[in-house]
Amino acid sequence: MITKNGSRHSSQISLQAHENYTCDQSDCLIDGPRILQVIFKIGTCLSSPGETYLGDCVYIYSGVCSMSVYLSFLVSSSPITPSMEPGNRLLIRGGRVVNADYSRTADVFVEDGVIRNVAPSLDVPEGTRVLDARGKLVIPGGIDPHTHMQIPFMGTRSIDDFYSGTRAAVAGGTTMILDFALPFNGESLLEAYRRWRGWADPKVCCDYSLHVGLTWWSSQVCEEMAELTKNHGVNSFKIFMAYKDFYMLRDSEMCAAVRQCKALGGLVMVHAENGDMVSEGVKEVLACGVTGPEGHTLSRPAELEAEATGRAVAIANQAGCPLYVVHVMSHEAADVVTAARNNGHIVFGEALAAGLGVDGTHCWNKDWRHAAAYVMSPPLRPDPRTPARLMDLLANDDLSLTATDNCTFTGEQKALGKDDFSKIPNGVNGLEDRLSIVWEKGVCSGKMDENRFVAVTSTTAAKIFNFYPRKGVIAVGSDADIVIWDPQMTRTISAKTHHHAVDFNIFEGMECHGVPLVTVAGGRVVYENGQLFVQPGAGKYIPRTCFGDFIYQRVRQMDIVRANQQVGVCRQPYSGPVVPVL
Ligand code: URP
Ligand code: ZN
Ligand code: ZN
Repeated sequence: MITKNGSRHSSQISLQAHENYTCDQSDCLIDGPRILQVIFKIGTCLSSPGETYLGDCVYIYSGVCSMSVYLSFLVSSSPITPSMEPGNRLLIRGGRVVNADYSRTADVFVEDGVIRNVAPSLDVPEGTRVLDARGKLVIPGGIDPHTHMQIPFMGTRSIDDFYSGTRAAVAGGTTMILDFALPFNGESLLEAYRRWRGWADPKVCCDYSLHVGLTWWSSQVCEEMAELTKNHGVNSFKIFMAYKDFYMLRDSEMCAAVRQCKALGGLVMVHAENGDMVSEGVKEVLACGVTGPEGHTLSRPAELEAEATGRAVAIANQAGCPLYVVHVMSHEAADVVTAARNNGHIVFGEALAAGLGVDGTHCWNKDWRHAAAYVMSPPLRPDPRTPARLMDLLANDDLSLTATDNCTFTGEQKALGKDDFSKIPNGVNGLEDRLSIVWEKGVCSGKMDENRFVAVTSTTAAKIFNFYPRKGVIAVGSDADIVIWDPQMTRTISAKTHHHAVDFNIFEGMECHGVPLVTVAGGRVVYENGQLFVQPGAGKYIPRTCFGDFIYQRVRQMDIVRANQQVGVCRQPYSGPVVPVL
């Protein structure tokens, strides 16, 4: 019934608010303290100490027991205001409605979580709540296609969970995230998917979806990919070319995975770094006596990112499979993506808020904690011209969209690598600040207009991952995920004021124009005037289908063209002598 590294208990448990719960199953094989997570029915809330919850104990994973923390956050979660009730009506009055294609001044009427009308001077039913957006922009809520909430990684677990992470998201104007379910080596993909759903569903304050990692390869993985696409709304799979002996696939495995993804009508996402070379680099740098965070950057130069990016492009192209390169961090890798796109390959490159906002010189900071905070993979590049260069490519559509790879660790967690940079948990923040960073560095700099801003912060993600026009646009029938955005207002980013659980912000002290005044998620006002009105579990899982037109129209046509090219020459058979085989 129980396996090491994660399994199920099916027993019923009884819990009281503020009560600690420890797994007491005598046959539980997991050593040490345990995380126990309970799937609460949406809306279940222990409102006062002593109130009892009876439910299923669904998952146990080795680590630190987080049950009491989770319960107390449920007890103290924000009050539900009338404006959060789903049936409520909202009118966003007189703003400049900005979509990826064009902008116009209009009112936006919302009912039951859906946009019902977009037109000037709307008449609305009595009792409708009116938000004044005159002089402001009204934009689709941000969509972050790359996050890692509470991911078990490098001996610990990222500190922002699906509650604190999505809380921070909506405070920054993002109303949907796509996270990654990553199986342990040998673990069922379906099991990992269910585990992540179990973590996310009770906690998310905005809608979310899941990519699934192909962290090992077998016929079982191949079959489960099909099951995930057919019955669980997954259309994107991530392959790691780095993290040797952990997540990394070999080229031959990658080829098989890419072929299956193509057959299912999905999208392959790739972490492109040459894992073998990185592992050699780490040994070399440590042997030179460099153990600090700068060693991380030195051990995995941009050349290794560019090489793997080119290899991924070739492998995907051989299978005729579309490719999405996550976290493009160097201009060398970005140039490979650009060249592939110019050569007609269906490839999308993702820029990160971190890569656009800061550079890798921070890893040389004298303060170890400061330097370690910037350790991520692929590394932020030490050439200070890199962020501006990546922004140029993003503005021109050489890179297609933005994400964050939000994967936060506290100082104490980063300190797992205090004597050896290769043990510093990789990851940075960005979820709350992405929109402001892109506005400041992209729009204020004159590199992109407000429509491109919307494209790279929401619309293109919705199209690539196939939930457009449900999201990523302000249009009749779309989900009411909306932000009233003040393009003139400024804010100074700081760990002291951010809503993340992490104790450091890589953008500390940066002054940005572009501030979300109001965030509406699923028709509810979840953030207004600096105050959050979130409810854990209010977000929904968004299932996605395969063969999305945005990508697969071209794929299908290219398949036809290729098939027509793969025709043999009509000739007389060879009839001359043949040497005997030795
Ligand atoms: O440093 C990073 N990027 N951490 C998260 C895991 C990954 O590679 O995406
Ligand atoms: Zn990655
Ligand atoms: Zn990532």
